[in-house]
Amino acid sequence: MVKPVRLALLGCGTVGAEVVRLLHEQSADLAARIGAPVEIAGIAVRRPNRSRGDLPVDPALFTTDALGLVKRDDVDVVVEVVGGIEPARTWLVEALRAGKSAVTANKALLAEDGGTLHDAAAAGGADLYYEASVAGAIPLLRPLRESLHGDSITRVTGIVNGTTNFILSGMDATGASFTEALEEATALGYAEADPTADVEGFDAAAKAAILASLAFHTRVGAADVHREGITEVSAADMASAKAMGCTIKLLCIAERGPGADGTESVSVRVHPAMIPRSHPLASVGDAFNAVFVEAVAAGQLMFYGRGAGGAPTASAVLGDIVAVARNRLAGVRAASESAYADLPIRPMGEAVTRYHISLDVADRAGVLAAVAGVFARHDVSIATVRQSGREADASLVIVTHRAPDAALAATVEELRGLDIVRSIASVLRVEGGQ
Ligand code: NDP
Ligand code: HSE
Repeated sequence: MVKPVRLALLGCGTVGAEVVRLLHEQSADLAARIGAPVEIAGIAVRRPNRSRGDLPVDPALFTTDALGLVKRDDVDVVVEVVGGIEPARTWLVEALRAGKSAVTANKALLAEDGGTLHDAAAAGGADLYYEASVAGAIPLLRPLRESLHGDSITRVTGIVNGTTNFILSGMDATGASFTEALEEATALGYAEADPTADVEGFDAAAKAAILASLAFHTRVGAADVHREGITEVSAADMASAKAMGCTIKLLCIAERGPGADGTESVSVRVHPAMIPRSHPLASVGDAFNAVFVEAVAAGQLMFYGRGAGGAPTASAVLGDIVAVARNRLAGVRAASESAYADLPIRPMGEAVTRYHISLDVADRAGVLAAVAGVFARHDVSIATVRQSGREADASLVIVTHRAPDAALAATVEELRGLDIVRSIASVLRVEGGQ
């Protein structure tokens, strides 16, 4: 009789309940794949007596004492699907230092203090797996941390937040405002009652930090990520994007390359951007996620699928459970964190991008020359100008060539100060293609 692998499940909400269901439904297959049965030793929740519908689980397994459960001698693996920084960090550190492998979906914690978890895993000789923390069901972290380890990743561009992708796809399809599209997303259950983490880009920034850390062998935290959300994206921006053959997506962009002084460095940013409709990420609709990886030898790779939801996320958690259970039975540990490159983080001002600027100006001789002069002074080259007249005013839409973000931002700032500029209606970055 092979000894079972015993799990402490921390959390039994949207993701945890599906983990329980899949463990039950797939128990025979999982035992065959791992080489030992998997058993749940206990489930820590906040409200143990809450009804959990038809969940196939013994109610006696529920406890509120998560730390006590983690410390139990009969627990081999800790699966954390609670979320937040504390007490999740304390539980995971306790488990890892004690040599118990851990599986977590907690992107917020990994982006805030992933180093502490990796250090605890190294100290305890335990595995730390977190495939579900970025892009839900999509196998993405394993390819980055294993399959592509012989290559050099140069850029990762992704749509990693389903809620904002649903909102922006709705605005693109119907011409709705941000507020109208958010209301629909809330009514359909795609957006939470408090959508701040999603619409302000915090969720995507946490995922960007995790992706950049793996891609560039460097510890990148949430604080290293330049973050802008989508609340300022207007129906007019979307219409302008359409007129240019583009759409707007909330992108996470992680790049490795020389900074302004030539030093190899990493730039990580999350912001809305126009992308051409021909770009592979433009057709990613609804609440789907997709990540585009560029590597020196492999070239371009695209990963696509469901980035959230109980069952898709549980699929990734189960994959990690199988991996750590197999390692445990084999008496081995997966390769530890790879942060040897330890590259500096480049400030946002040095990120090279393009701007789409829509402004209302007075329609008289010399205005275009004055506006063009501002771009020239900041060494920003104009790619296209579109003008439409409106009585004494004109609307100008200017798209630049690639330039450092600091130069583009300074250009916009100076334009704001010109008396011939009535207002700047929108400023958006343009990514993908020239
Ligand atoms: P839920 O809010 O649905 O569930 C959280 C669970 O944690 C509940 O079971 C809750 O107990 C329990 N819990 C909360 N606080 C405590 C505490 N102090 N002690 C013990 N148990 C506690 O969260 P999700 O399932 O949606 O998310 C879990 C994790 O997965 C998060 O890190 C999230 O970012 C990540 N994730 C989620 C995705 C999704 O689509 N939902 C996608 C990808 C990642 P009770 O049931 O009693 O309330
Ligand atoms: N709120 C997240 C999203 C859930 O919309 O993608 C998965 O992290």
